[in-house]
Amino acid sequence: MTHPIQFPANFLWGTATSAYQIEGSPLADGAGHSIWTRFSATPGKIANGDTGDIACDHYRRYKEDVALMKQLGMQAYRFSTSWSRILPQGRGAINQKGLDFYDRLVDELLANGIEPLLTLYHWDLPAALDDRGGWLNPDIAEWFADYARIMFRKFDGRVKSWATLNEPWVVTDGGYLHGPLAPGHRNLYEAPIASHNLLRAHGRAVQVYREEGKHQIGLVVNIEPKYPASNSQQDLDATRRADAYMNRQYLDPVFHGRYPAEMKEIFDDAWPDWPQEDFDLIGQKVDFIGINYYTRSVSRHEETNWPLKVVPVRQAQATHTETGWEVFPQGLTDTLVNFKKLYGDTPVYIMENGSAFYDPPSAENGRVHDPLRVDCLRKNMGALSEAMRQGVDVRGYMAWSLLDNLEWSLGYAKRFGIVHVNFETQERTPKDSALLYAQIVASNGACLNDPQ
Ligand code: BGC
Repeated sequence: MTHPIQFPANFLWGTATSAYQIEGSPLADGAGHSIWTRFSATPGKIANGDTGDIACDHYRRYKEDVALMKQLGMQAYRFSTSWSRILPQGRGAINQKGLDFYDRLVDELLANGIEPLLTLYHWDLPAALDDRGGWLNPDIAEWFADYARIMFRKFDGRVKSWATLNEPWVVTDGGYLHGPLAPGHRNLYEAPIASHNLLRAHGRAVQVYREEGKHQIGLVVNIEPKYPASNSQQDLDATRRADAYMNRQYLDPVFHGRYPAEMKEIFDDAWPDWPQEDFDLIGQKVDFIGINYYTRSVSRHEETNWPLKVVPVRQAQATHTETGWEVFPQGLTDTLVNFKKLYGDTPVYIMENGSAFYDPPSAENGRVHDPLRVDCLRKNMGALSEAMRQGVDVRGYMAWSLLDNLEWSLGYAKRFGIVHVNFETQERTPKDSALLYAQIVASNGACLNDPQ
């Protein structure tokens, strides 16, 4: 039975982006290199040789983008700050002009009645810190805490909602274990260390927030629920490993003070015994958890697949996005209900949810018809509303993404925006999904009950 959709009156609606994906001008005004400016300058790392040098030119067009959000009736905006704009060497001297950019952005958002949700780290580590080992160096917890303190002192009050890290799993898996993302390592022994230091850095930043800040801070994780390909014991075990690795590796330490037992099973002697006091640091109380949901996967045991011994099984009958991800709205409900079951009543924000489909502006009227994204959005709203009906405390939803942008190593070809960007002219055109989303926001979801 389906229930009518009506989100609570104080539900927070917005869109999300991240610094390197949209800003452009990554080295302007005294900013330092990040691992992404370096990675994208390395031939073969990003599709089509794309880079974030121009991206959506948001660094210079932020006012226009805030005006667009306002026009769409957005109440909040989740963005990330570039550590190497503010601290070109990752630590030490502050680059005032870098800080000023975010000062102007935050003021512009507030002047337009849009609440800023600030993420401190969305993957663009200062290159100078990478030269010192990056996430492999235990000192990074202090480097991150020092950067976080600068940001809290400058912005807390105007910014009332903070996230430490975006998707630590992707940082480790993409950056240190499999290597498609910066810094591009492929090393079984590094991955556990990177994960652990990410969590320590998160914990230190939360500690500093309790000294410096008065509002809310949390961690953003990506969850991809895992379902077994069959009921064979091997596939059930494979599913358990896949789930622990991706979905519980970061939340178990934060909420339960330990890693899932499967980590040792997967990494064997590459998984160290961590000092107990680290878990006290990691387990700082958070005010919320941000969940990014895109898809599910169906897991099958595969002995040769390093190191997890799991492969995803593509569902032939399903719709897939252009990143090859199955459209599976039920997974959003399952993710949220399972989060509550495993970790309790900590408030949740959906910090990202969206889909990559390419629909060019129509020649006739210049509008951008994106029926598949519209369909995904509708279905995801139903799935979200169902999770809330089942008692999950979800406080807000940020659509990924406001703009088509640099999809990391996949370049500009994969478009997640609800607003189309013409990368030659930088013209922005709200897609049909943006127009629907504006109605959803304006009606708190009630418009979804209307016959289509
Ligand atoms: C990331 C975004 C990314 C999106 C789509 C998330 O993993 O936080 O930066 O663009 O997914 O892949």
